[in-house]
Amino acid sequence: MASGNPQIRTPGGYTALLDDAERASRDEIVALQTKRLAWTLQHAYDNVAHYKAAFDARGVHPSDFRQLSDLAKFPFTLKTDLRDNYPFGLFAVPRDQVVRVHASSGTTGKPIVVGYTAADIEMWATVMARSIRAAGGRSGMIMHNAYGYGLFTGGLGAHYGAEKLGCTVVPVSGGMTERQVQLINDFKPDIITVTPSYMLVILDEFKRQGLDPRKSSLKFGIFGAEPWTNAMRAEIEQAFDLDATDIYGLSEVIGPGVSQECIETKDGLHVWEDHFLPEVIDPDSGEVLPDGAKGELVFTSLTKQAFPIIRYRTRDLTRLLPGTARPGMRRMEKITGRSDDMIILRGVNVFPTQIEEVLLGTDWCGGHFVIELTRTGRMDEMTVLAEARPESWDGAGMQPHAERVATYIKNTIGITAQIKVVAPDTLERSLGKARRVFDKRPRE
Ligand code: DLL
Repeated sequence: MASGNPQIRTPGGYTALLDDAERASRDEIVALQTKRLAWTLQHAYDNVAHYKAAFDARGVHPSDFRQLSDLAKFPFTLKTDLRDNYPFGLFAVPRDQVVRVHASSGTTGKPIVVGYTAADIEMWATVMARSIRAAGGRSGMIMHNAYGYGLFTGGLGAHYGAEKLGCTVVPVSGGMTERQVQLINDFKPDIITVTPSYMLVILDEFKRQGLDPRKSSLKFGIFGAEPWTNAMRAEIEQAFDLDATDIYGLSEVIGPGVSQECIETKDGLHVWEDHFLPEVIDPDSGEVLPDGAKGELVFTSLTKQAFPIIRYRTRDLTRLLPGTARPGMRRMEKITGRSDDMIILRGVNVFPTQIEEVLLGTDWCGGHFVIELTRTGRMDEMTVLAEARPESWDGAGMQPHAERVATYIKNTIGITAQIKVVAPDTLERSLGKARRVFDKRPRE
């Protein structure tokens, strides 16, 4: 797609812009991680009662750590550990050194709360600036930031990174889609940061206003906070004539900017390993898997002061691959989904991203869909409500299209799903993370 190669457009060459860590060799990164991890384990042990108790219960002490493989001796941290220590129990510095908190709501109960010192905010801005630059952004560009501002880390995380890079930030936040389109037209931003599902909503609004999205000023899109597929990338790149890259992160680790896809390769997300150490484990046994094997992603922070996090189980499923555009830092493959989002339908595992891929492979669905799970008798049923593109909508005439998709899903994924094509603009739109699965099965 692409609006040109940023390596060529940058005077003085591209590598001159990179942080030292982005140019470091693998050996240099491993040496840095070893030193920083020793500090983090000691810091957590000395200053957070939960970590001291958890390490002691395991019979392991920070002094047992000598090399990176020793990390496997240390206990995991779970979301429940964060809930149990609500609100500030896992902070490792006095509360008056915490300059900001964020929180993630989750679906039930209390939110989880994370905190940052001034140095943590600075580190976050650094990795976010690096991410925006890896996506094609440069000093002097205008960035339209449609990630939500507030307790969610997306808005403020991207905001501080863009300022640090030297961009002009338009802090729009999510929602008021008509105004989003107006501001894009009037301010002519180069970069947009937003969830991929809300980008589709912005796309619809462009069309509704009779505007050609390909003629917009947008050149770079940085999409994340939810799983999305390469099929969705193609859809968005084609519609807006921009370069779309994937950004990943989570509140517990810092927020957005834990890993980012590089525009020159678009081959998965480089983990900023000078600050975050990834592991992939077997979700059942907890055993660390070798690079290349798929499993649950686990993160340990290496430099965070206020909220060090040791071996946090993200529930996100992916695998680690060697670095390409940044050879010293490993990549993570695009996330397939969270283990919590995995649907088990009559014994077959299926992720919403697999359905997204199939629907975007048709010429009639633009990517708005939801999955409903119901139960008749003892049989679980899956219905996919897939919205037709306005130009394709043909009422009852859509039935053969639905049947073709159902057959394709049966043959490729191996599940029986009912496909219902619904009229344009009927499914509820999200302003941030899309909710894809509605489980209407009676609780056991
Ligand atoms: O979603 C941080 C973020 C904001 C990332 C903006 C990227 C852009 P949380 O609300 O704590 O933080 O949710 C974290 O979202 O564990 C994943 O399940 C999911 N997630 C985030 N980025 C991606 C991505 C932010 N690129 C949870 N692909 C994570 C797939 C993602 N899933």
